[in-house]
Amino acid sequence: MFEYQVNFVKYKLRDYEKELAIKEFENQFPSVINKTITKEGIKFTTSKLMDELKLKKLTFYSEFHYRNAQFGKSNILTDQSVVESYKTYEPSLFQDLKPNKSREIRYLTHSLHEYKGRFYPQLAKSFMNYAGIKKGDTVLDPFCGSGTTLVESFLFGANAVGVDINPIAYLMAKAKVQSLLLRQNDLKHIRKAFENLNKKTGWEKIVIDNYNRIVDANYLKNWFPENTLKKIIFIQEIIKLFNNETYKLFSKVILSNLLREYSYQDPSQLRIRRRRDTPPENLIEVFKNNLNEQTENLEKFQLLDRFKLTSNIQNYLGDIRTLIKSTNLKANSIDLLITSPPYATALPYVDTDRLSLFVFGFADKSTFRELEESLIGNREITKSKREKLDKELERNFESSVLPIEIVQLLKKIYLLNKDASVGFRRKNTAALLYKYFLDMHYGISQISKVLKKNKFAFFVVGKNKTTAGSEKFDIPTDDFIGYIAEKNNFKFVEKISMTVQKSYLIHSKNSINAESILVLRRK
Ligand SMILES: C[S@@+](CC[C@H](N)C(=O)[O-])C[C@H]1O[C@@H](n2cnc3c(N)ncnc32)[C@H](O)[C@@H]1O
Repeated sequence: MFEYQVNFVKYKLRDYEKELAIKEFENQFPSVINKTITKEGIKFTTSKLMDELKLKKLTFYSEFHYRNAQFGKSNILTDQSVVESYKTYEPSLFQDLKPNKSREIRYLTHSLHEYKGRFYPQLAKSFMNYAGIKKGDTVLDPFCGSGTTLVESFLFGANAVGVDINPIAYLMAKAKVQSLLLRQNDLKHIRKAFENLNKKTGWEKIVIDNYNRIVDANYLKNWFPENTLKKIIFIQEIIKLFNNETYKLFSKVILSNLLREYSYQDPSQLRIRRRRDTPPENLIEVFKNNLNEQTENLEKFQLLDRFKLTSNIQNYLGDIRTLIKSTNLKANSIDLLITSPPYATALPYVDTDRLSLFVFGFADKSTFRELEESLIGNREITKSKREKLDKELERNFESSVLPIEIVQLLKKIYLLNKDASVGFRRKNTAALLYKYFLDMHYGISQISKVLKKNKFAFFVVGKNKTTAGSEKFDIPTDDFIGYIAEKNNFKFVEKISMTVQKSYLIHSKNSINAESILVLRRK
């Protein structure tokens, strides 16, 4: 007989994480029936050795022990403990690795670039165990943002497809995945290319106007101190010399991640607003330090030699509303969906990284607005577009492709704001929400075609609030997305309520009060 003890992580799990932890275990090991759940973890006895690879893949667990007369005692760390803690160890001490006492969410390439997302890596990974996916299965994240799901799928050994409409997110996601494959030689090579960066004074010789053709220099001059802009161009000139795509991606995202901080944009605001203080000037030094730190961490990761990383990860710059056209995905080809859709009145994803979009030539003054408007949940809408949507909403009060619960709430909001003397933002509310739910309907109907029958879909969704007339309304976006999904061949499994993390609330004032994990299954 084997006596097993599978321990939870050493930091405090939130209630919903505990729930997920138990589901992970139960769904991955349905044959374990007589288990005891204690404060430390799960205890059970079996007659045969458990699948060690599967145990190692559990998320909210730090290690497992087993005891047996023949095999003696064994103590094995989960992959999650290893990725969360290896950074602070010298490679010669890797055999002494201990699980972290606090939660780490920026391990490995997750730390390459900040992005306002809805979930953290552990969450995406726990969904993979909850769904019981196997090697060779494919995960889809059609709002993949900076690629959290893709990185986790890669580490898990699952194939993945990621789509996002924001070019800078696409760049980040690609960089975060591909950089995991950089070998020690590659990393040394990258470091060497920038070695003398702060000794050379090459940046002083840059004539900004010579780069007008490549970037909108006039626009950028308005947003960066002149010397900083010269440094940015100088670093980019070095990046251009690489003839390896991953080296370029890796260095570009490290540069991109610094741009807001070194510009006249107020780094504490998600919208592009001018800051009051002066930006720091040491861009080159900090770029180099960050690059060194990232390359050293990845070198250590290579020395761990624990992850095989052979699965196939595909990135697309595309639109969920035309998912099948954007990706060429076949019907019934996806085994699991993990995603966090944009908020109903979204975070300004492209505005937050506007300077990166301009610096890397993904947008200019003539295309930026169009890009912003293409994002689901964006708040910018012209009066004529709003009026058109209002009319369509009015026509659809009685029958719409949207579930009745949504139309009824939109009708109330619309009628209350219609004749009230309220500002244009309020006047826009019903039309914007209508557009948001319609877009989600189009997106979900595409997902429904590519997801295999019976397979799981996880949506991490926030609720919203709004005021119409003088009444306050809760918009249960999570339930509404569930109803839309039910109209598109999904069945409801459960809704797990999450407490909102403080870090997500900083910029959103009172607009989001709770988030949920919506678990669905394709019929
Ligand atoms: C909540 S974020 C996802 C963040 C992601 N989970 C991560 O880890 O970075 C929502 C994403 O939806 C993207 N998005 C908005 N409209 C879209 C559309 N029509 N098609 C695809 N992606 C879209 C935004 O660019 C944003 O990256």
